[in-house]
Amino acid sequence: MVDPTTQELLRLNQKLLDCIAEADWKTYADLCDPSLTCFEPEAVGQLVEGLEFHEFYFKLGGANAPHHTTMASPHVRIMGEAAIVSYVRLNQRVSADGAPSTRAVEETRVWQRRLGVWKHVHFHRSMPTP
Ligand code: GLY
Repeated sequence: MVDPTTQELLRLNQKLLDCIAEADWKTYADLCDPSLTCFEPEAVGQLVEGLEFHEFYFKLGGANAPHHTTMASPHVRIMGEAAIVSYVRLNQRVSADGAPSTRAVEETRVWQRRLGVWKHVHFHRSMPTP
């Protein structure tokens, strides 16, 4: 039986991934703390702070092709008012010629609860080790 806090964090994290796929900036900004930090391939080795960097990609629009995002084998570690959600993110897409493909990335996302509300405060995404 998964405890309610773990369920809530998994729900919020999936909502975050879905709003990224849908280029839903309002939901993304609502789920994230304005001081969000990250390491991700798009940041080419730099630690990025704030939301502006991410908004750039949302303004480009969502993926045009059908897509679906899955957290594979998610693990949730709750440490009081902070939590870590780690998993392999699977992005399924269909290319213009109709061919389906799946891309996997490793993600660790950190959430912080303030006044009873969980906000996304840090993430790290990297390519899986071959
Ligand atoms: N690049 C935005 C995110 O993965 O949260």
